[in-house]
This record gives sequence, C-alpha cells and structure tokens, in this order.
Amino acid sequence: MEQEARIVINGGKPLFGKVHINGAKNAALAIVPAALAANGVCVIDNLPDIEDVNSLRKAITSLGAVCVQRDAATLEIDARNITRYAIGKEAVAHIRASYYFLGVLLGRFGKAEVPTPGGCDLNVGPRMIDYHMRGFKALGATTYQDEHVIRVEADKLIGADIHLDSPSVGATINIMMAAVYAEGVTTIDNAAKEPHVVDTANFLNRLGAKIKGAGTDTIRITGVTEMTGGDYTVIPDQIETGTYMIAAAITGGDVTVENIIPKHMESLSAKLRDVGCTVDEGLENIRVRVQGPLKSSNVRTGVYPGFPTDLQPQITTLLCTVQGKSTVTETIFDNRFLYTHELQKLGAKINVNGRAAKTCGSCTFTGGEVRAVDLRAGAAMVLAGLAAQGEVRIANIHHLERGYERFEEKFRALGADIQRVEINAMPGADGELRPLV
Ligand code: EPU
Repeated sequence: MEQEARIVINGGKPLFGKVHINGAKNAALAIVPAALAANGVCVIDNLPDIEDVNSLRKAITSLGAVCVQRDAATLEIDARNITRYAIGKEAVAHIRASYYFLGVLLGRFGKAEVPTPGGCDLNVGPRMIDYHMRGFKALGATTYQDEHVIRVEADKLIGADIHLDSPSVGATINIMMAAVYAEGVTTIDNAAKEPHVVDTANFLNRLGAKIKGAGTDTIRITGVTEMTGGDYTVIPDQIETGTYMIAAAITGGDVTVENIIPKHMESLSAKLRDVGCTVDEGLENIRVRVQGPLKSSNVRTGVYPGFPTDLQPQITTLLCTVQGKSTVTETIFDNRFLYTHELQKLGAKINVNGRAAKTCGSCTFTGGEVRAVDLRAGAAMVLAGLAAQGEVRIANIHHLERGYERFEEKFRALGADIQRVEINAMPGADGELRPLV
C-alpha cells in the first residue's frame, strides 16, 4: 500500500559532524524472540527504536509474555507465562524475522506456528526458508508450510549434525535457537559468521545456553534443560553505520560514526579507502573524510567478513558519482538491483545484467520522485538525494522506517536538508504532490 508521506531532500550539501549509531536491527530481530527461550525475565538494552522491533514486541505480547518498555532502547521481557504458540498475521505481516519464533518456541515448547514471512523482496521467487526447516527436521520436528502459515512440532528434540548448503544467517540463528533445548549435542556446519549470529549466541549463553563456536564455520550447541533470564546489550548496527559512512563519502563531507565496532566495518572501510576517502578508526568510532576526487572500484558482496549485501545499494549509489566505471556483483540475493530503476530516474547511468551492475561514474543526481522499493533501496535513495542537485522526493518510506531509527533527525544534525512531509501538508490539490519544478 502506498505510504501517505514522503521524504523530501534538497541535496548537494556536504555532511559534517558526529552521529550516534543505534543497536543492530538484525541482532535485535533475533534477540527479542530469543528472550522467549528463558523461563525468566530478560532486560535487553540498546534496541533500535524502529517499526520491526515494535512489531516483534506486539507479537511476543500476543503470546502471553509481559513486555515493559523501560525506555526507548530498553525492553524488559518476562516470558515465564507464555500461553500461546501461534503468532497472528497482523503482528508480523511485514517482517521476515518472524521466522525466529519457530526456532525459539519449538525449542522451549515443542510447538510453533507463524504466518509465512514477509520482508524485503530480494529474490526472484519467494525468499526460501528450506534450510531452517531441514534443520528443524534433523532435530526431530515435523514441519508444515503453505503460502499462509508455517508450523513445526516435536515431542522431543534430539541433537544432530546439520550442514547448511550455504551460510544462511536466518537458518543458523533459527536452528541454534531450537537446538539450545535439544537433548545432546547439535553441530551446525557451514554456519553464518555475521556479527548478529555471534550476538544472538552470546545472548542465549547469557540465559544459560551452551553454544560454542559462533563466529566460526562450525557452531556446537550442547542442549540444556532450563534457561533463566538475564540482562543484555545489543551490538551496534553495522548497516546503519555503513550507511552514514557512505553518506559522508557521497556528499564530500567529514562524518564520525560513534558507538560502533570498527572491526565489523572492515570491508567497507577498505572499500572507502580504495575509492579515495580518508578513513580513521578509533576504538569505538570511525571518521570518514573526503579530501579529493573519488575514483571507481569494483565490489562483490559476500558473507561476513565479506562486503555486506545490505550495503550494496548504498555503495552502488556512491559508485555512480565517482570518476570512472565500476562493477558491483551481488552474490547473496538474486534480485537486489530493483532500486537501480529508481536511481536512473535521478540520472544514474547504470546497467544491470543478472547479478552484476555496471556504473558509468561521474553522475550528478538530479531532482525527482522515487520509491523506496525495499529497506536498503530506500537508504540508497536517501544517499542519492543527499548528493543531488535538486529536490528528491522518496515515496514508500515505511520500508525505511522499518530499519533506520530517526534517520531524518540524524541527517539533519549533520547538516542535511531533509524532511518527512505528509502528502496533504504539501501544496497541490486533493492531497496530490505538487509537480516538480
Ligand atoms: N536461502 C535459502 N534457503 C534458506 C535460507 C536462505 O535458499 O533456507 C537463501 C536466500 O534466499 C538468500 C540467501 O540464502 O538468497 C541468504 O539468505 P540468509 O538466510 O542469509 O538471509 P536472511 O536470514 O533471510 C538476513 C538479514 C538480511 C540480510 C541477510 C544476508 C535479518 C532479519 N535479515 O536475512 O537483512 O540481507 O541476512 O546477510 O537478519 C536487511 O537488513 O535489509 C536485510 C535484508
């Protein structure tokens, strides 16, 4: 459904200053459901204040857990008296991470049901969860799936050796969440190594799980019979961090991202240096400066510690503006270049052929109206808008609000001219946007 608001950016202004990075969306989306593994109270801090986390809070409340929002970033979850195992569609219609309820509820109660997940359309067909289901079956569960609902059930889970065909983040975390209560030892081979996999394992261990090897190819989980509550602080968001680093580069500015883990940013820091930015790492911050013309570079996305697919639209947008031709190859998703049609509306010279996009470089984006076709595509539109000569209006901004906390406010604090505008607050008849000048 079309969103009744636009982000309006008058670009061409270098960004300067410091920006505080929030907790990681994709870690939070696993850790909030993971709290249901505990027969106790969890206090989770540094949660991003975004729509996806709000949806999860509603979902866990609907199961009978008691949630207290202590402040914008801190949620207390008491999962001692869960009474239901089925999540309703209304709570999680737009978020893919609802699949984590399968693993955690299967582990603790032997039964779970979720609506077939939503989220960004990044594959040509549906985004598959066959590795998750195979993992649950290997642990002894029966599974059922149609276009509306997914159900998993087991009288008893027993540890197993599970090999993933490719290192899926979601499957690694989901199988890990089910296996914490499985009898005996489970190993996940070819596991994903992303920072949020490690963060989720650390959280589960805080509650009493026995997980070793998270962050390596092989994760080993020894089942336990009881998990209690605990306090936990979510890691900073690697992708939000990267988006602001690229914003500094694309506007020719000087921005320091704060409250971050520089190690998580190594693939991007290296790439930004390669295109000609000055990148200085501190203990918990990174400063990105532009001191001369930027040049082309090729990018290939990969699993961690490779270049994150979730920064691919943003880096491609930057590469449109630098001197020279670049090629960006997407290896994780087979349909993550849809946003390039929107960039072309702003003047980008970019050709997509299958999983590769070639940019011609030296583009100055113009004003225009574009859509956020998904979350990171929306971030790419914001970056193009910040660099554009003219007014860029972005529709479908609910995608952005799912994943970036207070982004207009944060960009404004760095000197951007960016606003969220309700359609009927703008000049023009019947709630229509006025034509572009
Ligand atoms: N895949 C399968 N079968 C499966 C699982 C995955 O074929 O059972 C395929 C997918 O279709 C995809 C690839 O494997 O082509 C990678 O999928 P993965 O499972 O690693 O991704 P995910 O768990 O669905 C998470 C993030 C994504 C991020 C990817 C890759 C969450 C909630 N989502 O998705 O984040 O792009 O890992 O790092 O953690 C975003 O934040 O914008 C976003 C899309």
